[in-house]
Amino acid sequence: MDTITVRQMDLAFPDDIDPVVIEGRPEESYFLIAFSLLLPYLEPYLIRTMKEARPQLTDPRLGEDLARFNAQEGQHFRQHARFNALIRQKGFPELAAREATLDVDYHRFSREQPLRWNLAYAEGFEAFTTAMARVSFEEGFDGMHPAMRELFSWHLLEEFEHRTVAFDVYEHVVGDYPYRLRVGLYAQWHMLGFCARTSRYMLESDPELLERYGGPAGRRRRSGHQLRRLLRLLPKVLPTYTPWYTPHHIAMPEGMQALQDRYDAMAIRTT
Ligand SMILES: [Fe+2]
Ligand SMILES: [Fe+2]
Repeated sequence: MDTITVRQMDLAFPDDIDPVVIEGRPEESYFLIAFSLLLPYLEPYLIRTMKEARPQLTDPRLGEDLARFNAQEGQHFRQHARFNALIRQKGFPELAAREATLDVDYHRFSREQPLRWNLAYAEGFEAFTTAMARVSFEEGFDGMHPAMRELFSWHLLEEFEHRTVAFDVYEHVVGDYPYRLRVGLYAQWHMLGFCARTSRYMLESDPELLERYGGPAGRRRRSGHQLRRLLRLLPKVLPTYTPWYTPHHIAMPEGMQALQDRYDAMAIRTT
């Protein structure tokens, strides 16, 4: 069993950061920023969901994992919120209104959906971030601004560390495969839909940006690269849709121990 280390972080985000956080790739940069914007709404929802499930757990070790999962997620969204505040100062006036729709959605889910639905949503998200973590560790964070790379590398490392928790809680409390698949797919459609719409808005809010990056020809060239990156996620994501999927069988990627040591050393406090 891997360890789930709670690291209290204080990452540095320079005020003058360019929102094109991946060199020469505005579309991917904005998609990643939109993903970051989502997290201060989504991750508190995961924490609420897990807290609601806690009384139903009869395995004390899973209860301890759940507490560590919540503590890690609590750190994640706080660091992303600091980064997001900086991005909002860069001239995207509609972001606040778009984020407000997430706030409404996630509070509605907590209020109106049954616990089993919220647990399946949580696992749909966690299966996806585990896949993202694996691809990112295999491919690295080429061309990414160092502050953004630090944020995502630390976050995805911890997503990998706690990859079994939402799955185990779902299996323990619900354990219905077709339901996990159905709601998990909805979760991925819901959160990636936000990222797609928001990143498109960000691109369109600055018509000069596209020109600076090679006009329509540049965009077409980059779309091939984007598609290839997306396709590389598929071998990690598709198995999560099968009835025999379990995150317990996913081995620790190479180089992860070095990352764990790095972020242990950078943390203000670890528990
Ligand atoms: Fe997280
Ligand atoms: Fe997570």
